[in-house]
Amino acid sequence: MAYVTATEMLQKARAGHYAVGHFNTNNLEWTKAILLTAQELESPLIISSSMGAGKYMGGYKVVTAMVKAVMEEQNITIPVALHLDHGNYDACYKCLDAGFSSIMFDGSSLPLDENLAKTKELAEEAHKRGVSLEAEVGAIGGEEDGIIADGECADPQECLKLVNCGIDFLAAGIGNIHGKYPDDWKGLSFETLQSIVDTVGDIPLVLHGGSGIPDDQIKKAISMGVSKINVNSECQWAFQKATRAYIEAGKDLEGKGFDPRKLLAPGYEAIKATVKEKMELFGSVGKA
Ligand code: 13P
Repeated sequence: MAYVTATEMLQKARAGHYAVGHFNTNNLEWTKAILLTAQELESPLIISSSMGAGKYMGGYKVVTAMVKAVMEEQNITIPVALHLDHGNYDACYKCLDAGFSSIMFDGSSLPLDENLAKTKELAEEAHKRGVSLEAEVGAIGGEEDGIIADGECADPQECLKLVNCGIDFLAAGIGNIHGKYPDDWKGLSFETLQSIVDTVGDIPLVLHGGSGIPDDQIKKAISMGVSKINVNSECQWAFQKATRAYIEAGKDLEGKGFDPRKLLAPGYEAIKATVKEKMELFGSVGKA
């Protein structure tokens, strides 16, 4: 079982010009769909829980136990990192205690000095425990666990200060947002991305809000240094659409169609198809 930090897989991705997909989980169906698809495609994987999803699943220790148990029982041999998505300071410590192998401290809404001080402390603590750390500067727009922010473009000098705190990979806003992109969205700012890369060097960069970005922009971002791409909404939309189709077709009313193992099966397959599509786009297939 290769339960690992995200550092090495992302450094390899950065050097090899592909990206590792970060997929948010919500429950057992999501966890199995994500892990089994990554194994089938021999792709490295970052499976992640937000603070809200961790609470929903019954606590971070439940998430760790579930991910590790599925890995063991299903013979998952690809490298897997279990990551906290957009953690606050307390959640970072809780996930370190719960055995996550990677955490994100999102101090982007804090004054810069406080973000830097807490990031530095958490980098030291995480590394002491053999865990990788992602940090963010320049708030990423949209809504994530009730935190709503506009799509900002990060300041490269602020990025450098955060990198100097000892983090392993950097999330920097380049006009990306969580959830659905508005019709008048201007696209990713490759100019910002280039000046960040020129300033911070070859540390792996993280692109949040991976749902709904056109494929050509994803590929260009990867070619410029993005090595981790976060996908959440597209799996949710795929699950919702497939579940709706099943119920609208009246299949839950036929025979034992109400059985959750049948009712949730189309949504499960839809998550698997979405994860596969993303791994193929990101170029991580066969890179385990
Ligand atoms: P999407 O929901 O837009 O895919 O964003 C996911 C994300 O960035 C999680 O951190």
